[in-house]
Amino acid sequence: MTMFDMDEQKTTQSIINVASVPQRSPFRYPGGKTWLIPTVRQWLKQERKIAKELIEPFAGGGIVSLTTAFEKLADHILMVEIDEEIAAVWEVILNGKNKWFAEKIYSYDLTLENVKAELENPNKDLQDIAFCTILKNRVFHGGILAKGSGMIKNGENGKGIASRWYPKTLRDRILAIDYVKDKINFISGDAFEVLGQNLNNKSAYFFIDPPYTIAGKRLYTHFNIDHEKLFELTAQLQGKFMLTYDDTPLIRQLVKKYNLQYRTIPMKTTLHIEKNEIIISDNFSWWTNKNNC
Ligand SMILES: C[S@@+](CC[C@H](N)C(=O)[O-])C[C@H]1O[C@@H](n2cnc3c(N)ncnc32)[C@H](O)[C@@H]1O
Repeated sequence: MTMFDMDEQKTTQSIINVASVPQRSPFRYPGGKTWLIPTVRQWLKQERKIAKELIEPFAGGGIVSLTTAFEKLADHILMVEIDEEIAAVWEVILNGKNKWFAEKIYSYDLTLENVKAELENPNKDLQDIAFCTILKNRVFHGGILAKGSGMIKNGENGKGIASRWYPKTLRDRILAIDYVKDKINFISGDAFEVLGQNLNNKSAYFFIDPPYTIAGKRLYTHFNIDHEKLFELTAQLQGKFMLTYDDTPLIRQLVKKYNLQYRTIPMKTTLHIEKNEIIISDNFSWWTNKNNC
């Protein structure tokens, strides 16, 4: 038995129940980490400090940042996202246009013709891009915005493209973010740059959820990242970190090469296939079985 197998035997958990996780993001995010929130809570509570900062360099749907803000698990939050479509949503919500955005969604008449017209409109300012992104996220298969994705045809209960369009819920979630937005900064930019600038930031907690090595290409426009570089930077962080990955030979090899600690954790994919993911952290004193059931 290798060192890795032994570790795995000790640490494999039961599937997490996400009923205790309020849905706070306006996105239905492919590869989103709602299922990992109970574990993230435990990680953020590992030490009680007055000035704690969460840095989420691959923010995506932002469920970790939003939960952290609402549950006061950190005093300040920095979200970073490189995808301009996703970034537009966060910029509009966090920089004073959330009421406009909430009402635009709430009053929108979602028909196939209207959606097509909206998606084909070439003149787009930031607010239009944000609206279009949420629209696509709700009417495309699996919320996937990457090339090759297409509109839902039949949807749930024969409701077609509107089957994931919940205007009141979206409005309420967007308006609620107003209560925590003063704690959150958003950077439309590159995770690698922000990590590089924060290597010596000892009070930061880095939640790092990059596009995975296998599924990334299908799910994200920006999937092509330098995984080894990410390991190299992560290994230099002076703050606390949690790095999540798919369980593949490449990732296990990098864990070993950079001498990092890891645990495996089970999750169910949207196709209800059970598989393990890898959680890498600077320490595992915070890790318990309890928070995962
Ligand atoms: C796995 S997803 C994050 C999901 C997020 N944790 C959630 O729960 O919604 C990875 C995200 O990283 C973004 N991304 C890819 N390359 C990036 C880069 N260099 N800098 C910042 N974000 C990047 C992708 O656009 C995608 O939104």
